[in-house]
Amino acid sequence: MERLKLIPYPKNVEIFDGTLDCKTLKLCGQDCFAAADFMEKAKKSGVDFSQESGVEIKYYADCSDIADAEGYELTVSADGIEIRASSQAGLLYGFCSLRQLLFNYGNALPYCKIQDEPYLKYRGLLFDVGRYFFEKKDVFAILDFCLLHKINVLHWHLTEDQGWRIEIDKYPLLTQKGSKRSHTNFGVRPHGGFYSKNDIREIVAYANERNIQVIPEIDMPGHIQSALACYPYLGCFDRKLKVATHWGVKHDPLCVGKESTYEFVFDVLEEVIELFGKNTKYIHIGGDEVFRHRWKLCEHCQSILEKEGLKDEEELQMYFMRRVSEWVVDKGYIPIMWNGLNSDKVVHPQGVWHFWSDERGGNNDVVIRSAKNSGGYINGNSAYSYLDFPYGWLSVKKAYEYQPLPEGFPEDKFVGSEISLWTEYVPNFKTACARLLPRACASSEAMWLEGKKDYVEFENRLKSMVKYLETQGYKSCSLKKANPSKLRGGLQSAWFNRRVLHWQGLHNLIDDAYVERKFSKKRKRKQ
Ligand code: ACM
Ligand code: ZN
Repeated sequence: MERLKLIPYPKNVEIFDGTLDCKTLKLCGQDCFAAADFMEKAKKSGVDFSQESGVEIKYYADCSDIADAEGYELTVSADGIEIRASSQAGLLYGFCSLRQLLFNYGNALPYCKIQDEPYLKYRGLLFDVGRYFFEKKDVFAILDFCLLHKINVLHWHLTEDQGWRIEIDKYPLLTQKGSKRSHTNFGVRPHGGFYSKNDIREIVAYANERNIQVIPEIDMPGHIQSALACYPYLGCFDRKLKVATHWGVKHDPLCVGKESTYEFVFDVLEEVIELFGKNTKYIHIGGDEVFRHRWKLCEHCQSILEKEGLKDEEELQMYFMRRVSEWVVDKGYIPIMWNGLNSDKVVHPQGVWHFWSDERGGNNDVVIRSAKNSGGYINGNSAYSYLDFPYGWLSVKKAYEYQPLPEGFPEDKFVGSEISLWTEYVPNFKTACARLLPRACASSEAMWLEGKKDYVEFENRLKSMVKYLETQGYKSCSLKKANPSKLRGGLQSAWFNRRVLHWQGLHNLIDDAYVERKFSKKRKRKQ
């Protein structure tokens, strides 16, 4: 028999002769969030419940024989439906599978026994709210989507050149001013928004109820122009900058030579930690795409470089990341950093690398060695996991073929995998859905289920998932567009690449030349 219509597909499924008529259902178990959430979501797809009669769903969250806390056993038989788990997380996941079965098989649910548990312990989705702000209700919808797909980490990219989204009491300008940009890449309208501390607490609680750990990211020392726009002393030359309007790597990072920068960073992280508390094990401290030209000209940066006997500005970046990592570890958290260095040296023995770029995230020696030297690594290889990419670069078929554990990488240091929704070109929830879906469905299975994959078989199940998602308020990109022809894919890529006009645009070059002239002369005069 063909596979049951379920995504991500469970580890073990046995299908038996016979079906169960599930016209009306009756929940038989203790009141809990998992059951309430199931009922709410199942009703949306047309399932009826009754307190008196109907097919009984018995459920348990205290079955100690289920070894994995996220595992569950789901049985459909003439006696009704039973879900067994050893924790609320497993129970939630059992109900998520049941929701899909009820939608797909309605009145004739095949008798079956499912025994399920995850392949990866860490299955993440990065959500960039720095480029565009997303309302709380949109974040909730993303979290509901994660739960349905058994994704258990939301990596929340909260700060960017284009917007600072997290309220920090000690530095009120960060949100008063730093959360607003005067216009966007090709738009003329201003854009802005931020999460108050209460919003964040609410979102973290919402996620935790759904077995999702929220990892906050404060990206530094680059990708931080929104903060420099508010507090110019954080940069090398106290320049008056605007919150970035356009996408692309900006050329002004934090000045890593001034003690006042470290004070700022630790103050901000202190408040972040206070907010997220023990709901996260990790703090992501960024470290990607740091342009180091300013550091070369800055007297503070150069003085630290000399004092510490550092070879170059890359080592200066490592010095900064190490100091921040040490602080994070002292507070009892594990720092995560993007891989952005050409060195395989240890930044911090407990630091986790987050590999992302093709060149530096691929199977080259430096990357593998730095994984071996790390406290762990997360695989976020952009070629397979950046779900904002055009479908011509990353089709749903390619997303499905993703191998979370890359060849040659040390298995003992493998933390897990992440897919990413960057939002330079994702201004609203509708576009977010069209980028994420159906690719995230495919990636979720790659993270949940180990083994050989057959895309043709998967697509069959995916069609049902796309229909189910519509009942829940998510509109997917069509499968035809998600596996585009060469011509359509090429056009999509060309459209996407228009951003290069800005990224490599003239502005940065002219600005660099200006900074070089002004500040190298000043330095020379001082010397
Ligand atoms: C990244 O894409 N700069 C992490
Ligand atoms: Zn500096």
